Amino acid sequence: MKKFLLSASLLVLLGAGCSAATQQTASNPQPAANTAGKTYALVDVAKHNSATDCWMAISGKVYDVTSYVDNHPGGPAILKGCGQDATTIFNSVPKHSGKADSILPTYYIGDLK
Ligand code: HEM
Repeated sequence: MKKFLLSASLLVLLGAGCSAATQQTASNPQPAANTAGKTYALVDVAKHNSATDCWMAISGKVYDVTSYVDNHPGGPAILKGCGQDATTIFNSVPKHSGKADSILPTYYIGDLK
């Protein structure tokens, strides 16, 4: 009986460990689930060129940053990149750090054609 209880509690502990590991993976920033394989031409990006509809291409990837415009630490400066290939503008902001890079995947919607 003691042996049974011991292995049962071991199983419970193992289970808890696994679910903790799964939760950690789920909390990592990931692109939206429905973006797989999508590609956009620059003319598609160009249609989204306002503060209420802002897409930009950075290093070959397309981002819909509309919901980030109001949270951007650099304020409305982000609007300079809306509707275009903003790689040069984005990379030339001296204050952009690893933080800016790590936020980008949240807004990824596909690759630039
Ligand atoms: C391409 C157009 C963009 C321009 C012109 C721009 C401009 C700026 C400027 C001037 C600052 C400095 C604010 C200060 O003085 O403290 C800043 C900060 C920042 N921007 Fe942008 N931004 C752009 C796009 C983006 C995008 C697309 C993201 C992320 C999705 C982003 C994330 C950040 C973050 C996180 C900071 C704070 C500094 C850091 O920790 O990196 N920006 N931006």
